[in-house]
Amino acid sequence: MSYPITRMRRMRADDFSRRLARENRLTVDDLVWPVFVLDGDDHAEAVPSMPGVERMTIDRLLVAAGEAHALGIPALALFPVTAADAKSADGREAWNPEGLAQRAVAALKAAYPELGVITDVALDPYTTHGQDGLLDDDGYVVNDATIDALVKQALSHAAAGADVVAPSDMMDGRVGAIRNALEDAGHVNTRILAYSAKYASSFYGPFRDAVGSAGNLGGGNKYTYQMDPANGDEALTEAGLDLDEGADMVMVKPGMPYLDIVRRVKDEFGAPTLVYQVSGEYAMLKAAAANGWLDEQAVVMESLLAFKRAGADAILTYFAPQAAAWLKLAR
Ligand code: PBG
Repeated sequence: MSYPITRMRRMRADDFSRRLARENRLTVDDLVWPVFVLDGDDHAEAVPSMPGVERMTIDRLLVAAGEAHALGIPALALFPVTAADAKSADGREAWNPEGLAQRAVAALKAAYPELGVITDVALDPYTTHGQDGLLDDDGYVVNDATIDALVKQALSHAAAGADVVAPSDMMDGRVGAIRNALEDAGHVNTRILAYSAKYASSFYGPFRDAVGSAGNLGGGNKYTYQMDPANGDEALTEAGLDLDEGADMVMVKPGMPYLDIVRRVKDEFGAPTLVYQVSGEYAMLKAAAANGWLDEQAVVMESLLAFKRAGADAILTYFAPQAAAWLKLAR
């Protein structure tokens, strides 16, 4: 039926009918909060390119995590800031059972057993060259030897009590290797969140500042392992491989410029599909809001809802505590 029988504006005329017709909703259950962890005690540092985000020592993290937990946020994703003297060419600090990530996991699980803890599996915070894996003599990131290191790292996270390990390195075959190792070690319920479609994006800049890997990477890039932003079909191949290898959840990253990929991955596999609203996206929204150019709450909530509409089941976002507080006020 066409106009005037069909008037699309009728349902938009009142709040009650807009609510009845609303197809997607954002709830606190959709949020994962990425946090940066520092060594030491009772200390926090601002991240200049991410206003409002702090790197925190474990004791401070426990307080912040308690607040997030009280707001109903289901899980945190941990990103340790490795001291320069703990970095090495092979990133061995990554699987130190007493490392910062491992200690943070154990402390969080002891304080808040029901709060999900997700760890990042990749070598970049630990390597002197800032790459996610091991280098050969030509500076190429070698795949299979890197997998052995990632398996050690993932096992150390699981042993510390991590609920979810999240390989963000984009090596081929790492999900299967990690899955087998977890099974062999008896960690049958440790979930794997695969960064399946992780693009070689320029939106990660502020994150690399936050974890202190930007300087190590220098002018380098990650084009030989992260995906080309030009590609879409390839994301489906990647997600399919990771699911076949034993991933429980797949992720698309970055978020806002890649909503088409979120939709395609969700439609193709129907698997739990997460999306990462990355540091550069956070920085953009914050900068515009700070200048008075955008209404922060309105655009943040719109951006998060857009992920839901695109098919995401959950969203990693630095806005998680703020969004959870706004959602609570709106109830
Ligand atoms: C490291 C990692 C990165 C991010 C998450 N894990 C950076 C990178 O690949 O260089 C980016 C997150 C963000 O920008 O918020 N493997």
